[in-house]
Amino acid sequence: MSREHIEFIQSQVLPWQSCPFQYDVQYKELSVDQKTQATTGVFKYKKNWLEEEAYWLASEEEFFVLKGEIEINKIRYTEGYYGYLPANYLRKTVKANKSTVLIRFIDQSPQPIYYQYGDPLPVMKKEAIEGINTFDMQWDKGVQDEKLLHLDFGRKILRIDPTTKAKTFLYMVSPQTYPQQWKGPREHHPTVEESFCVTGSLAGEHGVMRTGAYFWRPPEIPHGPYGSRTGAVLLIRFVGGEHVNHWSQELYPFTFDPDYEPILPERLQGIGKKEWLPEPF
Ligand SMILES: [Fe+2]
Repeated sequence: MSREHIEFIQSQVLPWQSCPFQYDVQYKELSVDQKTQATTGVFKYKKNWLEEEAYWLASEEEFFVLKGEIEINKIRYTEGYYGYLPANYLRKTVKANKSTVLIRFIDQSPQPIYYQYGDPLPVMKKEAIEGINTFDMQWDKGVQDEKLLHLDFGRKILRIDPTTKAKTFLYMVSPQTYPQQWKGPREHHPTVEESFCVTGSLAGEHGVMRTGAYFWRPPEIPHGPYGSRTGAVLLIRFVGGEHVNHWSQELYPFTFDPDYEPILPERLQGIGKKEWLPEPF
């Protein structure tokens, strides 16, 4: 498998590294496709960081601002903002107005292609989504799948790809939610599911995901049931195809306090195996 199953890791336990693609940027590698170099990572920019040269990527990119403010082509993205930049989107100026942390999803190589004066401008084949403030969107609480009713959930759809039907959205789970009689079916999907916990916590069969938790789950892997003591907001992507839920007949137990039993590739076994706890008390 060129992109390994990771479910799940708290990004807090991962080390900051120098980003090989941009000067003076730190990042945490969450998941990488060894074949295509597709990368999901948490990227950190110092206040007043500036990309000096215009560039584009051969890859499309989605990002969400976890902290701070970044300005791309004079469009400001602050905490909770989302952007989709298609392949060949020219970044004429990129600047961090504050100390800024983004989660970026780059579906092919993240290697910038720098614009040289006189070069023909690259052509975009898809439409950009720029400067979306997710705080200004309404939660869609329409129920599409009754088996998820117990989560009292809401969605904010950020993007659906017109060709592949791949979907990116925010998913809100209400606090103090659990499946009826503490058990429920498991779901699986024909596509990859990728997620980052923006805030809150969500209990499932691999442990309690907390703010900063990340997973990359290949297709067809059953998961759930879920519940939440605190409530949660998750950024979720169904990658490469349409989101469909398939459900098991069998019911599986749920607890608010599952042990942390992640599925991790070998390179993360050392640092990833220890549960990260915020310990507020
Ligand atoms: Fe799922």
